Amino acid sequence: MSHDIYPVLLKDTYINQEQYKELYQRSLEEPEGFWKEQAKKYITWFEPSEKVLQGGFDLLDVVWYAGGKLNASYNCLDRHLKTHADKIAIIWESDEGNSKKITYHDLHREVCQFANVLKKYGVKKGDRVCIYLPMIPEAVVAMLACARIGAIHSVVFGGFSAESLHTRINDADCRLVITANEGMRGGKKIPLKANVDTALVSCPQVQHVIVVKRTDNKIDWQKRDIWYHEAMQIVDADCEPEILDANDPLFILYTSGSTGKPKGILHGTGGYLVFAAMTHQLVFDYHPQDIYWCSADIGWITGHTYVVYGPLLNGATTVIFEGTPNFPSPSRFWEVIDKHQVSIFYTAPTALRALRQEGDDWVKKTKRTSLRVLGTVGEPINPEAWEWYYHVVGEDRCAIVDTWWQTETGGIMITPLPGATPLKPGSASWPFFGVEPKVVDDKGKEVADGQMGKLVITKPWPGMMQTIYNNRERFVETYFKEFPGMYLTGDQAYRDKEGYFWISGRSDDVIKVSGHRIGTEEVESALLCHPAVAESAVVGVPDHVKGQSIYAFVTLKTGYDNSDTLKKELIDTVRKEIGAIAIPQTIVFAKGLPKTRSGKIMRRILRQIANQEVDNLGDLSTLSDPQVVDDLIEQVKKLS
Ligand code: WT7
Repeated sequence: MSHDIYPVLLKDTYINQEQYKELYQRSLEEPEGFWKEQAKKYITWFEPSEKVLQGGFDLLDVVWYAGGKLNASYNCLDRHLKTHADKIAIIWESDEGNSKKITYHDLHREVCQFANVLKKYGVKKGDRVCIYLPMIPEAVVAMLACARIGAIHSVVFGGFSAESLHTRINDADCRLVITANEGMRGGKKIPLKANVDTALVSCPQVQHVIVVKRTDNKIDWQKRDIWYHEAMQIVDADCEPEILDANDPLFILYTSGSTGKPKGILHGTGGYLVFAAMTHQLVFDYHPQDIYWCSADIGWITGHTYVVYGPLLNGATTVIFEGTPNFPSPSRFWEVIDKHQVSIFYTAPTALRALRQEGDDWVKKTKRTSLRVLGTVGEPINPEAWEWYYHVVGEDRCAIVDTWWQTETGGIMITPLPGATPLKPGSASWPFFGVEPKVVDDKGKEVADGQMGKLVITKPWPGMMQTIYNNRERFVETYFKEFPGMYLTGDQAYRDKEGYFWISGRSDDVIKVSGHRIGTEEVESALLCHPAVAESAVVGVPDHVKGQSIYAFVTLKTGYDNSDTLKKELIDTVRKEIGAIAIPQTIVFAKGLPKTRSGKIMRRILRQIANQEVDNLGDLSTLSDPQVVDDLIEQVKKLS
């Protein structure tokens, strides 16, 4: 395995290669001292913690910064006011191309006011608040206002359907929902408030819905609804931050697993914030004069850690982008970069692949001279897309950081550092400080370099999730049961001789479609909601833009015939049950599915069939009806 290596470009970064090696070593050998220093450096504590790290993975009793007292919104806002109240905190770039700049002073005032609104409507410390908003500044205000009073926010991506929203509101037992009348994306309107109304049909615990007016369209109005702008007028702007414990929860964020309903990943306050601030500063080599832009939606963990908390903790100017990469043209990203003189840009491989397809001219007609660091996240980046990012977008001047992490990890875990790591296109490279990843075999034994295996993390790190909300059992079962004492990531990877990690994708039944995490079982359950469906099995297939796409096998109940109309109905069903991001690209109607005699569907075989790799299907003698395989192969061939 030989790969191109790109030498380090940037000088005068926080960390060079030698410093990385030294500090990394120290972070593993002396974690307590190391993380104590970081806590002091990055966070302002009302009271420091007595104990940096308590417990471990053996007993699953990890506690970070026990006894420490702090407030997230104080750290993101108040503490910056003395030195740079007039610095721009948020540059908002709207879908239509207007922009608005908000200073730290103004953001602080708006957060305090909105915190008072929440209090007025009965939200207290520990209550859960659902945020279902587009990418507008009020989304940040809502998150920080929750944090200010110790309420736990649960942001739900605006692309999720009413049904998904309903499930999440109920699971977290949210008391209040914050939404907008409509959202705007790529020139299209999204009926957010109407979705909330549908979602709340059977959520009696939600007594108030606060509605931001984003468009001028009229919407249905319920007794429980309150306009954001009206509520803000009748509260004052003083709101002392609640003094919280380092281990008080900060937020819940739902993500898909290989089985069951989405899991509410619960993150705490102290450890999460230390990790968010430190990774944001060092991974992007963030300096005070930078203009920083992460294009992720706040509905995902990337939006939480690297649009909101990381940058604001560091007093940065963070760009909030409401639009899409190709509206009104595939130059949009690069135009926004020129317009606001963005120096650090963080986006998803799928967006890069889609834009690359449109041709280089869309990039080349813009300047991009302000850029210095370029990041990617969400799925493996193929070397071709990486090279394009490096040569065409970055014009061989910028450091690239391919950052590997997860909703569960809270922040970046494996990544190059600009100025420290020679780059290999396609590899997320080396672990961040304090992170010890290993590649193990099915028995949990570390494999040799170059050998593919399961990626685990062997030591606690401050950004790690606390638990699955209301489901500690599932937390233990999902992440710690297979290999006791290690955190199981669910990814496959190998490490090369130079210590670079190459992460190739999931080893479980999770599909990554355009970087979005989708559980096969969720799509299967959605399909089953249609009366015609007897059974379904969903697998992922490679897609040259989306990374993976969804391939569904469906068997029908007797009395139903397959047809294009039925296909359309099935697609609508998935859109309604989950959202457009989970729609299958291909649906194959099958007479039967390959099953073992005990009734277990053989996904491995379905994956091979969907990928048309049927030369070596392995031993089929354990199937209850081997004939179905030939039938499926035939069907798939017909479709391609
Ligand atoms: C999964 C986590 C982390 C924020 C966005 C996604 C995949 C993520 C990379 C990368 C290869 C990656 C993994 C991981 N993934 N980044 N740089 N290289 N794979 O968060 O939705 O929790 O998904 O995304 O499969 O397990 P998420």
